[in-house]
Amino acid sequence: MELAQLTQDLETLAAETATALAGAPDVASLDALEVDVLGKKGRLTGVLRGIGALPVDDRPKVGAVANRVRAGIEAEIAERRAVLGSAELDARLAAETIDVTMPGRPFRHGSLHPSIESMFEIARIFGQFGFVVHESPEIEDDLTNFQDLNIPPDHPARDLWDTLYVDIPGHLLRTHTSPGQLHVMRTMQPPIRALLPGRCFRYEAIDASHGSEFFQVEGIMVDEGTTMGDLRGLLDEFAHAMFGAGKRTRFRPGYYPFTEPSVAFDVECLVCGGPGCPACGRSGWMTILGAGMIHPVVLRRGGLDPERYQGFAFGMGPERISMLRHRITDLRLFLENDVRFLGQFR
Ligand code: PHE
Repeated sequence: MELAQLTQDLETLAAETATALAGAPDVASLDALEVDVLGKKGRLTGVLRGIGALPVDDRPKVGAVANRVRAGIEAEIAERRAVLGSAELDARLAAETIDVTMPGRPFRHGSLHPSIESMFEIARIFGQFGFVVHESPEIEDDLTNFQDLNIPPDHPARDLWDTLYVDIPGHLLRTHTSPGQLHVMRTMQPPIRALLPGRCFRYEAIDASHGSEFFQVEGIMVDEGTTMGDLRGLLDEFAHAMFGAGKRTRFRPGYYPFTEPSVAFDVECLVCGGPGCPACGRSGWMTILGAGMIHPVVLRRGGLDPERYQGFAFGMGPERISMLRHRITDLRLFLENDVRFLGQFR
């Protein structure tokens, strides 16, 4: 192998590479060319393999030419890559234009279920009076759902709560949130101000105003010297916050075995405001909840001394509150999960 021949081969490689570079259409072919010429098993390495056959004195000379050729090719590739790269970027930018003035795709917002929204609002209002939210089980035993609430096994008041039983003997799905009163009294010390929201279950024929599954929010306050006046004032504040300042309210005598005396709490009809209309059964009033002073038997079953402590409790249906506020006429809508209904309560 001769020095002149090797040098010639290197120059040929440089010239051919320059031609190929000029014709490379894109960055990918450039990459391939780079591997082909400068790569570990590339053409330059192939030519330089001949160095070993040269006289020792000639080797540095070829090395110098090889280095110059390599540097030249590297510079040309870099230059060409910059040109092709920016051309490709321009093409992509042109092809992928985004018209930022186009209207966007509508973003569908979810919303709280009206029952939940109603319970949040109830909790927010009573929260201002120091009531804290507690949870209470959905499966209860007969003792806590009925007997400790002063409803003995064959008491006729049981007819008020048609019950769904579960497979565990003596256990049932709670028919109201009132058993929560006992749990609260057994775990908290007076002064007690608690709110117990939760799902209740009854064996009911389902119609526009009765469901077998619905929510209740129970409230309980126990302290020394708690009176019916406290209950009246608190419920007035609640009705005004929920339905509007200045709405008239009234207590009507009611009956629950676990409160004595018991009342129904009414607010003036939200549709007619008093004279009477179909929405209020022509009475001018709408019933919001049941309430009363906690029966001494219940206080005692809750572990409290009725001689020292008095308290009141109330129970309301958030669906009913929601129906009154939004003029909804059918309770079944709350369980059907039709988004056309649910989406109206943002
Ligand atoms: N638990 C009663 C019901 O389900 C409501 C109520 C609660 C009444 C607390 C008085 C006191 O109808």
